[in-house]
Amino acid sequence: MRLIYSIKKMYEFSKTAHLKGKTIGFVPTMGYLHEGHLSLIRKARKENDLVVVSIFVNPIQFGPKEDFKRYPRDLKRDMKMAEEVGADLIFYPDAKDMYPDGFKTYVNVEELSDKLCGKFRPGHFKGVATVVAKLFNIVSPDIAYFGQKDAQQAIIIKRMVKDLNIPIKIKVLPIVREKDGLAMSSRNTYLNGKEREDALVLYQALNLAKDLIKRGITDTDKIIKRMRQLIKKKKNTKIDYIEIVEMDNLNPLKVISDNCLIALAVWIGKTRLIDNMIINKLGS
Ligand code: PAF
Repeated sequence: MRLIYSIKKMYEFSKTAHLKGKTIGFVPTMGYLHEGHLSLIRKARKENDLVVVSIFVNPIQFGPKEDFKRYPRDLKRDMKMAEEVGADLIFYPDAKDMYPDGFKTYVNVEELSDKLCGKFRPGHFKGVATVVAKLFNIVSPDIAYFGQKDAQQAIIIKRMVKDLNIPIKIKVLPIVREKDGLAMSSRNTYLNGKEREDALVLYQALNLAKDLIKRGITDTDKIIKRMRQLIKKKKNTKIDYIEIVEMDNLNPLKVISDNCLIALAVWIGKTRLIDNMIINKLGS
C-alpha cells in the first residue's frame, strides 16, 4: 500500500490510473478508522480497480471551541487497518498544502448546511463541503463512499455534486453499530465506562421512535417528546436536537411520512454524538 503526502503526487497517481482505464473508489476520512470506515473501504474494494483512502483532520470543519486538537490520530494504526481491507493508497495531505496562505474559496451548500447539526456547528458543513470538493478534485475518483451515520453530510455532498456537475458517483452505506447498538464513531474513544453505557440511550431513543411509529403514532411532536423523556433519564446528557425530517431537504415533518429521517445529536458528558434512523410509515 502506498502513502502519498503530496497533492501533486496524488494527482499524478490518479491521472496515470485513469489513462490506464482503471477505476478509482475513494473513501474520505479523518482517520482513527473503525469498522464503519472499513465497511466503506471493503465496498470500494469490491467495486473498483483501485481504492484510495484519504486521512485528513480537516481544521476548517471544526469550530473554535470544538475538538480539533484532541481528535484521535494514529496513522500507523490506520494504515494497517486500511491495508488489511484492501486499500491501495493512503492520501495524507498536510493542512498547509490544503489551505496555503491566501486560501479564499469555500463551498457552501445553502439551507441544507444550516439545519440539524448546522444550527449548533456554524460553518461546519461549509468546511466539509470545501474539503470534500478539494479532495474530489485531487483524487478524481469514479465513486466516493460515505457513511449513513453522517446523514446530513451525505445529503449535502450529494447536493454539491449535483449542483456543481462533479462527475463522481456518491454511495452511502448503512450505519455500522457495536454489538450493543452504539453507532461506530472515532469520537466514541472519548467516552469513559459510564458514558459509554449512557451513550446507548441514543440508539434506544431511535428504537423507541420506531416502535411508536409501528404502533401507529404519526405525530412527530409526540414521538420526539417521548425520545426526549427517555434520553433525559440519563443525567449526564444534553440534547442539541432531535428532529424528524424529510430525507432530501431536511425539512421538519409534523406527521411521519414515507422515507423520513429521525436524527439526533446528544452530548454525553463532554462528547457530542450523533445518530439517526431512516424510517417509513410502517416503522421498517
Ligand atoms: O466524515 C468525515 O470523516 C469528514 O467529515 C470528511 C467527509 C472526511 C471530510 O473531512
